Amino acid sequence: MTSLSHRRFLRASAALFTGVLLAACGKAPEPAPAPAPAPQAAAPAPAPAPAKVYTVGTDAAYAPFESQNEKGEIVGFSVDLLNAIAAKAGIEVKFVNTPWEGIFNSLQQGDRDLLISSITITDERKQTMDFSDPYFDAHQLIAVPEKSKVTKFDDLKKLKVGVQTGTTGDEVVTKLLGKTNTNVKRFESTPLALKELEAGGVDAVVADNGVVINYVANHPTAKFRTINDPAFEPEQYGIAVKKGNTELLEKINKGLAEIRADGTYDRIYAQHFGEKK
Ligand code: ARG
Repeated sequence: MTSLSHRRFLRASAALFTGVLLAACGKAPEPAPAPAPAPQAAAPAPAPAPAKVYTVGTDAAYAPFESQNEKGEIVGFSVDLLNAIAAKAGIEVKFVNTPWEGIFNSLQQGDRDLLISSITITDERKQTMDFSDPYFDAHQLIAVPEKSKVTKFDDLKKLKVGVQTGTTGDEVVTKLLGKTNTNVKRFESTPLALKELEAGGVDAVVADNGVVINYVANHPTAKFRTINDPAFEPEQYGIAVKKGNTELLEKINKGLAEIRADGTYDRIYAQHFGEKK
């Protein structure tokens, strides 16, 4: 035994001895009471049955869709939308910030019951999860420094392009530049890619239009310009559930249809994006 571990051993034995002594004197701490049942989140809905709280995964670094405010609360269009859907569907939801890179896996593993995270409905993703009816139209958008010579998507071929790993932006850029091209710079989040553009580490960023527009509007000093290209396919966001969870999916689709019909959708949309054109 080295002298250090010997000393540790002595200290540990002393502590143990004191513990035994205390116990003998009847001063042992009371065993902790059995944990109280987890407090039910205050149910605003008058649903009589003890409601299951559905856990919602979202990568909250995607303003104005999903982001965290100063208090760390998850806020945005997606949050207001899903809360409105849940109210109609009579279900309770709880949002959990979930990094994009693990988000589909968290659904697969059952750690999340549903995902709302500006997820584009794609044929490939449909193989491994089920999507609600589309709730938002989107497309890719290029961000470049104001002074950049880029005018179209094809101009990015020889440049360094930032994307968020595993997004549809990553897919289109990888397709244009080639799978093994090291000029595709992948980031954990879209804001990180845009920060790198600001820092000059990449020449352009390709990401969802809503997020790029929001970032440009909120970072005037970054001096970015955006470029739309007709080559970008229309995309639609959907809420994802585990493959086969039709019960939950039907509730969500019904709630979505109801908020579209009664004007709630338009009101939430206007709150975040202005009146619909
Ligand atoms: N719409 C894109 C996709 O599905 C990007 C979504 C990223 N969402 C997020 N919250 N980071 O691939």
